[in-house]
Amino acid sequence: MVVKNICCIGAGYVGGPTMAVIAYKCPGIKVTVVDVNEARVKSWNDKDVSNIPIYEPGLEDIIAEVRGRNLFFSTDVEKAIDEAEMIFISVNTPTKTYGLGKGKAADLKYIELCARQIASVAKTDKIVVEKSTLPVRTAEAIKSILDNTGNGVKFQILSNPEFLAEGTAVQDLLNPDRVLIGGGNDEGGTIAINALADVYASWVDRHKILTTNVWSSELSKLTANAFLAQRVSSINAMSELCEKTGADVNEVAMAIGMDSRIGSKFLKASVGFGGSCFQKDILNLVYIAKSYGLNEVADYWEQVVIMNDHQKRRFASNIIKTLYNTVSGKKIVFLGWAFKKDTNDTRESAAIYVADDLLNEQANIAVYDPKVSEPKILNDLDYLGTRSETENRKGVEVYSDPYEACKDAYAIAVLTEWDEFKSYDWGKIYKNMRKPAFVFDGRNILDGEMLKSIGFVFQSIGK
Ligand code: NAD
Ligand code: UGA
Repeated sequence: MVVKNICCIGAGYVGGPTMAVIAYKCPGIKVTVVDVNEARVKSWNDKDVSNIPIYEPGLEDIIAEVRGRNLFFSTDVEKAIDEAEMIFISVNTPTKTYGLGKGKAADLKYIELCARQIASVAKTDKIVVEKSTLPVRTAEAIKSILDNTGNGVKFQILSNPEFLAEGTAVQDLLNPDRVLIGGGNDEGGTIAINALADVYASWVDRHKILTTNVWSSELSKLTANAFLAQRVSSINAMSELCEKTGADVNEVAMAIGMDSRIGSKFLKASVGFGGSCFQKDILNLVYIAKSYGLNEVADYWEQVVIMNDHQKRRFASNIIKTLYNTVSGKKIVFLGWAFKKDTNDTRESAAIYVADDLLNEQANIAVYDPKVSEPKILNDLDYLGTRSETENRKGVEVYSDPYEACKDAYAIAVLTEWDEFKSYDWGKIYKNMRKPAFVFDGRNILDGEMLKSIGFVFQSIGK
């Protein structure tokens, strides 16, 4: 079977870039990305390509080339489902905020809605691809909805989790370590797997396209995120011990990373991992383990999240302690708000929680981030619900110029590892700050010796 028409439900951080790359590499396939969020679709269709809703290096160029050629963004979900042979579900699967499993389980209401909509619209056989990250055995639920509410047409369900990381999404999609496809081992399943594998084979080596059963594929995605997050929590746990003992976490990371069994990646100590997936996916894993009665398994993985929460809290409390146990009325600058560099995504960013702790101590927070807008920053704090919207606006000021942000500040905290922070005129910044002027590097990116020689009091995670 040769796929000619693809629909993707969900035009977010995964649906947008993933479909852009499929359209770019497969000019013979028409790809339509649909979303219920009209504003988001409008931005994707903005004539000025720099206004697309997601910032990813390299994405604008690809969108400029393929949009209107064989890539389309639309709010007409039903039409796109009807026309497609293959439908990707890339909708969000956040942590449940209510009812059974609140705070841990994945909220699958958007997934179920998609399945019901596909079932009601489909008049021809379809391959349905789970692109969202889902609890193991979700395909079973999707199949049951499709088979029991559909118009008698045949559905094949595949699991094809996405491993891209934000900030490097385009490169990750163009050169993936592997593409994982889980499907049934009967004739229909095999045809569906091959059809999807052929799409990827347009640019990915066949030996990197791994096929498994559906459950292994679903569980591998949660496992991969759990392992990655665990590395960050492991090095962050060591960062605290380094601070107590005089060891330097960068040197420790280098020393262990040169062991090829350990490897050098994902060993950067930080103020804590953020992003929309690590915490959500680990909590989801914890919930699944608990639901099978595997309490030790659940506790083991939950500790990764507990360690991460501790790292964020201890960064904030260290700032307070160092500033003579009071930050009340003091201007503290946040360089960076995004959860990592090269993205405008702020979901679960450590900055939000550090700001929340400092606002509780009545600090005045000044934020500068090269790609995150003021409404987003304030909205992140409002969403926490710790204080009123008025109080958040009173306590936080967002700047578009980093030098202005740092004027009259008592301290600077680096929350995101944006490259531009390294090349600032730190002498100029120092001159305009209150003395002693403190820098707390939550990302280990600044040259501490240089800052100290200017006069700063400098502290870095794990040193
Ligand atoms: P997102 O919130 O950016 O995008 C999801 C989009 O789906 C939203 O725009 C929303 O309006 C839309 N949507 C929800 N229900 C819909 C419906 N019924 N019909 C049409 N549109 C609907 O989320 P995301 O970051 O792209 O993540 C999507 C999934 O991919 C999640 O399961 C996530 O865990 C997984 N994932 C994310 C990343 C990442 O880096 N962000 C990487 C790999 C996997
Ligand atoms: C992560 C995974 O890396 C992707 O493979 C996966 O597809 C994705 O989750 C997902 O499922 O959503 P992402 O969250 O976009 O990608 O970004 P990462 O590069 O993994 O960074 C996550 C967080 O960990 C960031 O806050 C980052 O700063 C932090 N981090 C990462 C560290 O603190 N230290 C490190 O060494 C690496």
